[in-house]
Amino acid sequence: MSEDVFKKIVSHCKEYGFVFQSSEIYDGLSAVYDYGQMGVELKNNIKKYWWDSMVLLHENVVGIDSAIFMHPTIWKASGHVDAFNDPLIDNKDSKKRYRADVLIEDHLARIDEKINKEVEKAAKRFGETFDEAMFRQTNPRVSENQAKRDEIHSRFAKALNDSNLEELRQIIIDCEIVDPISGTRNWTDVRQFNLMFATEMGSTADGAMKVYLRPETAQGIFVNFLNVQKTGRMKIPFGIAQIGKAFRNEIVARQFIFRMREFEQMEMQFFVRPGEELDWFAKWKEVRMNWHKALGFGDHKYRFHDHDKLAHYANAATDIEFEMPFGFKEVEGIHSRTDFDLSSHEKYSGKKLQYFDPELNKSYTPYVIETSIGVDRMFLSTISSAYAEEELEGGETRVVLRLPAALAPVKLAVLPLVKKDGLPEKAREIIDSLKFDFKCQYDEKDSIGKRYRRQDAIGTPFCVTVDHQTPEDNTVTIRYRDSMAQERVAIDKLSDIISDKVSMKKLLKTIE
Ligand code: GAP
Repeated sequence: MSEDVFKKIVSHCKEYGFVFQSSEIYDGLSAVYDYGQMGVELKNNIKKYWWDSMVLLHENVVGIDSAIFMHPTIWKASGHVDAFNDPLIDNKDSKKRYRADVLIEDHLARIDEKINKEVEKAAKRFGETFDEAMFRQTNPRVSENQAKRDEIHSRFAKALNDSNLEELRQIIIDCEIVDPISGTRNWTDVRQFNLMFATEMGSTADGAMKVYLRPETAQGIFVNFLNVQKTGRMKIPFGIAQIGKAFRNEIVARQFIFRMREFEQMEMQFFVRPGEELDWFAKWKEVRMNWHKALGFGDHKYRFHDHDKLAHYANAATDIEFEMPFGFKEVEGIHSRTDFDLSSHEKYSGKKLQYFDPELNKSYTPYVIETSIGVDRMFLSTISSAYAEEELEGGETRVVLRLPAALAPVKLAVLPLVKKDGLPEKAREIIDSLKFDFKCQYDEKDSIGKRYRRQDAIGTPFCVTVDHQTPEDNTVTIRYRDSMAQERVAIDKLSDIISDKVSMKKLLKTIE
């Protein structure tokens, strides 16, 4: 998908009430967004899909809702005060600031693109006889680029692992990476920058306490581990799920709601016996990938990306990447966090955070598998996959959001053919009987064609038209968003027809 289409998606989100720039009438606040009347419905449906998949489908996963403010020592214990940094570099000519790691990753992606183009060209040329592996090994241009890529990649991975900022800068210099704005290579040194927002709480004679806006929801789960385990009589293995806001002072904030300063996470920490964590890691990778694929956007749009640099707390980590309009990008992280967090909170708080395992007859600090997905990134991947521009017969075009019906903000639009002859009243009657189950919308303005287009643009799976035959035989025309097919059905069948398609239960069953 091109940058052009991405721009169209961003303006579509604004035009139809999905996403607005925060504080727009004051010229906006960078990397902060508000969800509008359609956006909030889609977002809530995404959250419900995730929440139900965790706490309904897994008897041993329960939810919590912890506060955004937490004791500041929590962030010392978690490592965020000392290590939650981005390596930044400035271009002296444009005065723009970049993440050094992102500059290098983009450079690697450009080499990959070159290689892939070469392979695609050859595949077309040779047709069915094409042996891709052989071509990659023997074509001089491809193998040269691949060797260059591998060399940069291994230097990059080592520099990240060693937190070697000088080497990161050297890679940028050696790769001749230029600033996209000034076009120059006039770079500063690379520096670390902490991403947490700090504020002050209360005022005492000794002054206020410095507190942080949480940069992840996970720590609220760790510090409540024993509360939940004891009060819920939970037995290991078990999980705690949470949805909530997180805040990061992102320096390179771009690509709409992909990287925001205030965003929402859906995280689940799964507590297991030490030594069993890698089996659980593999299991949750599969469960989470199935959750994504069940939405039906196409399996080829997802891939795992194992981390080159493991975070300070992890012994295995992977991302689920989704093909966004601007390439494959991380939507979800799955981490095997060892006992790092619980042990560290034990040390800093002086409280025991251990579990007595009745089967093993001993106490231990559990290991943790974490699944962590950004609601906003999930929203962006959903809306960009659903967005389609279609040519219709007669040269007309339509923009349609092919959202999975269970996620669509509005499930049903009821449209009286004309604003008289009792048709609006009949339409209202239909809404009154269905509104308890489905989000419905009434629309009587403009031609039927225009009304269909408006509903297509927000992804409404069903439109029902009330016409002059309706008062006579209690039937209506139902029109399906994707096929645009229409059929005549009895009003009392509507509920079943719609339930069958929009049901969250049905969607959840496909991942079981
Ligand atoms: N507790 C682990 C953790 O927070 P992460 O990889 O830093 O891990 C998890 O974040 C997910 O949160 C990411 O995969 C992404 O979907 C989302 N996320 C992280 N930073 C974000 C940002 N600035 N804007 C939007 N979403 C973000």
